[in-house]
Amino acid sequence: MNKTRLGVNIDHVATVRNARGEKYPSPLRAALFAQKSGADSITIHLREDRRHINDNDLKIIKSKLKIPLNLEIASTKEMLSIAIKRKPQFICIVPEKRKEITTEGGLNLKHKKSFLKKMIHKLKKNKSRVSLFIEPSLKDIKEAKNLDADCVEIHTGKFCNLINENKQYNAEINRIKKAVDLGNKLGLEVHAGHGLTFKSAKILSKVSGIKEFNIGHFLIGESIYIGLKKTIRQFKKIIK
Ligand code: PXP
Repeated sequence: MNKTRLGVNIDHVATVRNARGEKYPSPLRAALFAQKSGADSITIHLREDRRHINDNDLKIIKSKLKIPLNLEIASTKEMLSIAIKRKPQFICIVPEKRKEITTEGGLNLKHKKSFLKKMIHKLKKNKSRVSLFIEPSLKDIKEAKNLDADCVEIHTGKFCNLINENKQYNAEINRIKKAVDLGNKLGLEVHAGHGLTFKSAKILSKVSGIKEFNIGHFLIGESIYIGLKKTIRQFKKIIK
């Protein structure tokens, strides 16, 4: 049986670099170090405002990495042409609002639907695996299938917030379980991500059918204390 994969999101290495306008810490070095430490893929989000990862990071990381690169992008013409040029193995299409601090909620699959469909088609033809970042909603799972995506990534932000605030999370985890089951039934590969910590990843790892977790902010933060290698190893142990 295939083990659950860990995608390590290194956006916030670039956030720290950009805070001082220096060349360090280097996202490339973090990507290669994460690769050596057991990451199954590296995730980067090229935002329209380039607030963390920039075009050069994408270019150099793609050229040096041996494991798959998962590029998160908004559904825009600019991002489509960059993705076609750079040809990352994995793409995750995400919603994007300029003023948000992080990705708030899943995609609205009805918005610009014909462009989204064309974008998915072109990216798949270009040999990238295409995932859609969505809420754990049955309607959106069916819509993702209709749009011919390869995978869906379920937004776990609400679930993680409930855990962080010590609130009841049963209803939300049931919503996630139903979405994962339907996704698998329809032949979509199901991933999960956003806001995950050791604690929330451990609870979510009990939900069967999730093939990949994409984790960034907590993982990079935790590595300040215990190092990137130990943090990655611990997450891999939790989700296996
Ligand atoms: N998955 C997707 C699609 C995301 O947009 C993000 C945030 O960039 C993550 C996973 C990782 O979330 P976090 O940084 O909170 O772990």
